[in-house]
Amino acid sequence: MPEKVYLATTNPGKVREFREAAQSLALTLEPLPGLDRIPPAVEDGQTFEQNAQIKAAYYSRCIPGELLLAEDSGLAVDALNGAPGVHSARYAAVLHTGDAAQNNSGDQENNRALIAQLERLPGNKHAAKYISVLALARDGRTLATFRGEAQGELLTVPRGTQGFGYDPLFYFPALKKTFAELSLEQKRAHSHRGKAFRLFLEWYAQHRA
Ligand code: IMP
Repeated sequence: MPEKVYLATTNPGKVREFREAAQSLALTLEPLPGLDRIPPAVEDGQTFEQNAQIKAAYYSRCIPGELLLAEDSGLAVDALNGAPGVHSARYAAVLHTGDAAQNNSGDQENNRALIAQLERLPGNKHAAKYISVLALARDGRTLATFRGEAQGELLTVPRGTQGFGYDPLFYFPALKKTFAELSLEQKRAHSHRGKAFRLFLEWYAQHRA
């Protein structure tokens, strides 16, 4: 197995977290060269697994023979039947137009859209989970997928300035903080992405020999 794995994400929040997670590893996690010039993969899967595999297979064809890791992730709110789910990155636009094939919305717009949906629900305690699925591919073929989840509750008043996306609304009871109040290291220890990444590292350790 090569000691280098390419990463296909342009989301700066995800890039920061993966970079921090890989900093003490022998394995190098390299951004896929020229990613911003490659037309984006069409994420039309119904599940995080499908979309992660679509992205990993698609981008791995841009770097023949190399290992490529892609992620699909999002937030699932129990009382919203799992929404925003696979539409997390474009939730505001999808709600606004009723059409799933939208470009991504900004984090603030998505957070406002989520708060508006939560405020229509009865009660004020809303269970939710974050899900991350990593897919590892080479030459257009998925080798494995890794799923991590983090369970929390949603606030309707944002708290904290770290993290990205829905983090200021995602309250993690075990630490009595939102994910936007955690350091990168704390977030990695508890987050969906940190868990999925640890599963990937276990797989990699077994297969690299
Ligand atoms: P993807 O790039 O299609 O996987 O979209 C993931 C979206 O889910 C992000 O744009 C965020 O809206 C949300 N999301 C996933 N992971 C996190 C996280 O760790 N913090 C905050 N929002 C997240």
